[in-house]
Amino acid sequence: MASPGSSAPGGVAVVGSGLIGRSWAMLFASAGFRVKLFDIEPRQVTDALVSLRKEMKMLELSGYLKGELGAEEQLSLISGCSDLREAVEGALHVQECVPENLELKRKLFAQLDKIADDHVILSSSSSCLLPSKLFAGLAHVKQCLVAHPVNPPYYVPLVELVPHPETAPATVDRTYALMRRVGQSPVRLLREIDGFALNRLQYAVIAEAWRLVEEGVVSPGDLDLVMSDGLGLRYAFIGPLETMHLNAEGMLSYCDRYSEGMKRVLKTFGPVPEFSGATAEKVHQAMCVKVPDDAEHLAARRAWRDGCLMRLAQLKHQLPQ
Ligand code: NAI
Repeated sequence: MASPGSSAPGGVAVVGSGLIGRSWAMLFASAGFRVKLFDIEPRQVTDALVSLRKEMKMLELSGYLKGELGAEEQLSLISGCSDLREAVEGALHVQECVPENLELKRKLFAQLDKIADDHVILSSSSSCLLPSKLFAGLAHVKQCLVAHPVNPPYYVPLVELVPHPETAPATVDRTYALMRRVGQSPVRLLREIDGFALNRLQYAVIAEAWRLVEEGVVSPGDLDLVMSDGLGLRYAFIGPLETMHLNAEGMLSYCDRYSEGMKRVLKTFGPVPEFSGATAEKVHQAMCVKVPDDAEHLAARRAWRDGCLMRLAQLKHQLPQ
């Protein structure tokens, strides 16, 4: 087993040590990278280091710690930092994880732009801010992109790589390789689009779920079962396009057989829901029967969800792809 840092191929700076920053720190350390964790609130870094220790020890005990290094060795690769310049110095990759606020992120990227050399990659975890807005006017725009993870990134490997129109192809390639190296599953968007790919798919599903409940076709509980006991099981292994391919004698045969039916149904889809009023109340009440919306119940259910995702991730890893 490698000694701590001996295999470290270069440093990573994680800027913002909240929920997502902590997860990135664990992922980078799991692959042997030295990680400097910076936050505008020094207390956040201290808390992050304590919670990372607890989580990584727990993962090690339960056999779910990623990577070849032990928890202590991985922890020794992560250090807190109270100065942005110091955090970024010598880093190969900077992963920004500050709150989803355009002005805040633009200000931070302007600071990073001043201290960055010509090689470091400046990557944002933004869920929905467009690269053309985030990185406009930066001298190092060629080195900038969005690398959008899915919560919780430690168990859900997808990362959407979204370039600015001026991002250098090498920046995307290097980030793609880095993501693979830390065990994530990167996908490349060839141009930016509002919602990227994941949220566009997710919102399409949410919108139709909402309409079906609003129109009284199905109860909220049963609607969720359509996904969790139906579509979702297969979507954990194959996507919608491969589903089409397998559900007939190949894609062309599927289109031939089912396109008329799909178009007929799609034409009956209603307008964008308001997500408010009586339907919001009805869905809220139904959700609260299962999971009351106080902090304790929500946290317990999230912990259960993360445990399920962790076991699914391990199962996927064991199965042939
Ligand atoms: P968070 O609120 O948990 O953490 C943000 C951290 O940034 C805090 O510790 C805060 O003190 C720090 N911060 C604020 N201003 C700063 C500055 N100027 N410099 C350094 N640190 C600063 O937020 P979270 O949930 O970790 O989200 C971070 C980013 O990740 C957001 O862009 C979000 O959209 C994205 N994201 C979040 C997901 C989620 O489910 N939470 C999923 C995927 C992406």
